[in-house]
Amino acid sequence: MADEASAHEDAPNKPVQQKRELVKEILRKRAQQNASVVKPGKRVIDESAHKFALDPAVQALRAQHEALARHGLQNPYFLVNESIARGVTTIKGREFINFANYNYLGLSGEATVSQAAKDAIDQYGTSVSASRIASGERPVQAKLERALAEMMDVEDCIVFVSGHATNVTTIGHLFGHSDVIFHDELAHNSAIQGALLSGAKRIPFPHNDWRTLDRLLGDFRGDHHKALIFVEGVYSMDGDVPELPRFVELRNKHRAFLMIDEAHSLGVLGERGYGIREHFGLKGSDADLWMGTLSKTLASCGGYVAAGREVVEYLKYSAPGFLYSVGISPPNAAASLAALEIMQDEPQRVTTLRARSKLFLDLARQKKLDTGHSGGTAVIPVIVGDSMMSIALSNALLARGINVQPVLYPAVSEKASRLRFFVTSAHTEEQIHQTVAAVAGELARLRGNA
Ligand SMILES: Cc1ncc(COP(=O)(O)O)c(C=O)c1O
Repeated sequence: MADEASAHEDAPNKPVQQKRELVKEILRKRAQQNASVVKPGKRVIDESAHKFALDPAVQALRAQHEALARHGLQNPYFLVNESIARGVTTIKGREFINFANYNYLGLSGEATVSQAAKDAIDQYGTSVSASRIASGERPVQAKLERALAEMMDVEDCIVFVSGHATNVTTIGHLFGHSDVIFHDELAHNSAIQGALLSGAKRIPFPHNDWRTLDRLLGDFRGDHHKALIFVEGVYSMDGDVPELPRFVELRNKHRAFLMIDEAHSLGVLGERGYGIREHFGLKGSDADLWMGTLSKTLASCGGYVAAGREVVEYLKYSAPGFLYSVGISPPNAAASLAALEIMQDEPQRVTTLRARSKLFLDLARQKKLDTGHSGGTAVIPVIVGDSMMSIALSNALLARGINVQPVLYPAVSEKASRLRFFVTSAHTEEQIHQTVAAVAGELARLRGNA
């Protein structure tokens, strides 16, 4: 955070400079205090190498929190929700318009979904208590996998207990040292972690730039055994959509595998919410690994890979994050299955979400807010340009009854610091009008333009 701040040194960013100085000063003082060392044998081992509290990274985080407090700002993270979080949520007994949850179709908290989870608990308990290969199957797990595979127009599907772990273990397991992974430069951390774990050569390409990817594939693909192209259906920081058909062409032209992360496109893109495949009218066979999470539209917790029969079988028998981890719990699987059925039965939720997202984006543009690459999906950034002001804006909106989180470096660059709004089908038009007006007003006030 501190290094990146140097990119913005104009007057409105003064708080960032002050904070950088403060963080440096705190770290300098602590370094002096921690100068003592212990000497087992010949090597000198610094205190910070065996006490986490003295680790520079841990200290830097603490220093940032202290700097926040000194600027009179409230830590915007880990707010305690006391109710179901959809279009509104309750924090400290007060109701807020809520933009901090990816409950895109409002299905977490829907009575039918909750009931399905409760019924599954009554029938199977709260946990399967071991890996599925050991503890055996529960019908609801296979039903969910079948429903996901059918939706994605592929032969089979495997469900993992976490969306993040799905990418890490799938990419980490299917690719290795002799392979190459091309990923969008804005790819989610889970894909990067998977690529690092795999040991494959990792080549990021400029955001959504399939032409450059074509050149990179031409230059490097031939030096490697397998090649993976990794893209997302909707990018999680900006809410924009890649030109997937172009990536499919590259996959075919260069004999690569194509993996698409649908964390933010399932329930959002396509008439029925089936995601980016439906949006572009593609076939299941146009990609190799259709990945998604259960935690967003599907109201639960977990991730999946919908794909061909052979690769799913291989993952079920050998992917470490599946083989050596517990199977998805019955209530989680049942909740996602029920949510998927509602999504399929009530496409009007998807239509409403699209209308609300468009309204938000149109209003924000009218107010000249910087919405970055936003493609009118349910993720809409408002780029502020520095961390402290993003936090101050989040604080100010909270005081006005609106809950939205800032996204700061290192998740984005300092000058791309932002508030990120997750629109849901449960938001009313009035809530969106109220929110955009409040954001524009508070931002102008903080920048001294009000
Ligand atoms: C693009 C993307 N992939 C994967 C994940 C991980 O999913 P989960 O939070 O369900 O573990 C996220 C989480 O936000 C995400 O945004």
